[in-house]
Parts: sequence; C-alpha cells; structure tokens
Amino acid sequence: PFVTATFSAPTNIAVIKYWGKRDVKLNLPINSSVSVTLNQDDLRAMTSVMISPAFEKDRLWLNGEEEDVSKSKRIQTVLAGIRAIATDRTLADGTVVPAAELADPSKWRAHIVSANSFPTAAGLASSAAGYACLTRVLAEVYGAAEPTPNALTAIARQGSGSASRSLYGGFVRWNMGAAADGSDSFAEQVATADHWPDLEVIVCVVSADKKETGSTAGMTTSVETSELLAHRAAAVVEPRLSAIEAAYTARDFPTFGAITMRDSNQFHACCLDTFPPIFYMNDVSKRLIALVHRFNAKHGSIVAAYTFDAGPNAVIYTTKAHTAALLATVMAHFPRPAALASDAEYVSSAPAL
Ligand code: DP6
Repeated sequence: PFVTATFSAPTNIAVIKYWGKRDVKLNLPINSSVSVTLNQDDLRAMTSVMISPAFEKDRLWLNGEEEDVSKSKRIQTVLAGIRAIATDRTLADGTVVPAAELADPSKWRAHIVSANSFPTAAGLASSAAGYACLTRVLAEVYGAAEPTPNALTAIARQGSGSASRSLYGGFVRWNMGAAADGSDSFAEQVATADHWPDLEVIVCVVSADKKETGSTAGMTTSVETSELLAHRAAAVVEPRLSAIEAAYTARDFPTFGAITMRDSNQFHACCLDTFPPIFYMNDVSKRLIALVHRFNAKHGSIVAAYTFDAGPNAVIYTTKAHTAALLATVMAHFPRPAALASDAEYVSSAPAL
C-alpha cells in the first residue's frame, strides 16, 4: 500500500524583509514581512512524496543527492507537523488507513524527492520554495486538515521562515505574532496574483555560488550585535508594512518601488552594522543599484525597484511598459558572458505573475 503526490511551489521575494529571530527553534521573527510570490517556471521547487509501510525509514533526495533526514531538524519538524494533522486515507483498493496508523512514523514512512529549478542557497530563496513545496505535498499525502486557517504556513515556517509566504500566490504577509508557541506567527494573502497583472519582475543572477553566511547564522549575529536592526524592528517595519500594502492595493508603483528599495537597503545596512559585518552584495550588485536609480532619474519617477536577499543577486520589480527598456539597459551594461552561447541562454523570460 502507498499514497503518492507531486507538487511544485514558487519562490517569493520579500519587499519588507524578514531578518532576525526571536526564537531560533520555531523560526519566530522579530518583525512581520511581506513578499510577492513569483510565478516563473524558472524559480520553483518540485517535490514528489510516496508514503508506505513498506519503507524502512523516512528518506529525502535533494537535487539528486540523498540527505540524511535524521540530521535535518527542519525536515523532521515539518514531517511531524503534518503527521499531527493527518486524516484517515482511503487507498486505491478501497482499504481505509486510520489517521493514527498513517501518522505513526514507526508504521508509515515517507520517501521524498525534491529539486529546485534554480541555484540552491544562492540567495534566491530556494529554501522558501523548497519548504513550502514540502509542506504542501506532505499535506496532500497525509490528507492533512488545517486546524485553523493558514496553519500550513506555520508548519512551513518551521522549515524556513520565508517558506511561510510561498504557500500563497500574489502579495503575502507573514505576521510575526506574539505567542511563545508560534501559533499566531503565520502567513496570509493580502492580494491575489491577478490583482496587479502589470507588475513584472527581472531576476538578475549575479552569482549562483552558495552564500558565505547562511540566513540563520547571519540573523543570529545581527540580533546579537546590530543596534540598527533593533531600531528597524521597533520603529521602521510596521509603518512600512501598512504603506506598502496600501501601495500594492492601489497599484501605486512609485510608492511600492521606493519602499522596496529602502527596505532592501536597510536590511543590507543592518548586515553591515552586524559585528563582524556581513556583506551579501558585491560590486555587480552595487552597479545594478546605480543603474536602476539612473533609469528612474531618466524617467523622472520610480518605474523600477531593486531588492536583494541574502546574496548578490538582484530582483528588479517594474511594470510591463518599462520591462523591455530596462532589460536592454541591464544587458548593455552587463554583456552576455562568452560562456553562454546565445542571448536566449542569457535571458529567459516568463510571465511575471
Ligand atoms: C533575506 O527564510 O532563508 O531572504 O528562517 O533561517 O530559513 P530561515 O531564513 P530564510 O531567510 C530569508 C531572509 C531574506 C528576507 C526574506 O525573505 O524575508
């Protein structure tokens, strides 16, 4: 007997960043955050799961290589979270497996195969797509029933904080919550993906290398040492959240873009204020920042906005009217590397949202 399912989940790019945990074990943040979930086929995680009593143990293959599940607390936490809300399953032959048996890891075990369609751990939010996808696909095979709305996002959050926001499309807020057990730290959709079809995103892959400082370690040092981060969480984020949600709802790009760029800059300023400092952006990242500001100056208003996560890659939000010109400007400043045979290899496009 077995149950199987396959899902894919997109990555999301925060415009008000999550940086800093008040509880490292539960991934509880020091501030709420908000992001746009991308819809690009290029930036997805895809995961298949089969559960069966025939398997000896839970196993996981990530991008073709087996990972030791017993060593990954995050995977175990997500598995346990879903097993706790399993429901009775009817198999193909009509047998009913009671929830208690299905959810008992000494009886039914999971084999999980997952792959990212983009560089892992290069600051392109691969963990966001990965854990969102894992949560979704496990929920399917175990017939998980959310005890409260958005409860699946709180399970994904324990895999990776940003994953909580990838279970929904469109514009998504992760509420920091106040409860010590994390029960009110979940994500919810603010606006659907079709609310702002004019919004486009250009992902500039500056480097596909693994980042030097992982998010979790970086956040811990920042919380311990950065006064700017403490100020940000106490006084900056909340008003920015209200303002950017209003801008997104009103499809007001200049306001949305200005807040997005300022928030990215403040996040990286907090990294610089961390002691010892953390540098995620490199010289190419900085040239892209200058290029976007010049592009906006030429247009006399904000028509493009960059944001950088924990890595040097730029994500540029813009609108359809400006996408082609912006892409041409980026390509003029950063000619196609000789290693790539054609422009089609250098630039791949897909609908943004
Ligand atoms: C800069 O969600 O990867 O991308 O919770 O430790 O897994 P963990 O961290 P992670 O951190 C993402 C940080 C960020 C900002 C954001 O996505 O909000």
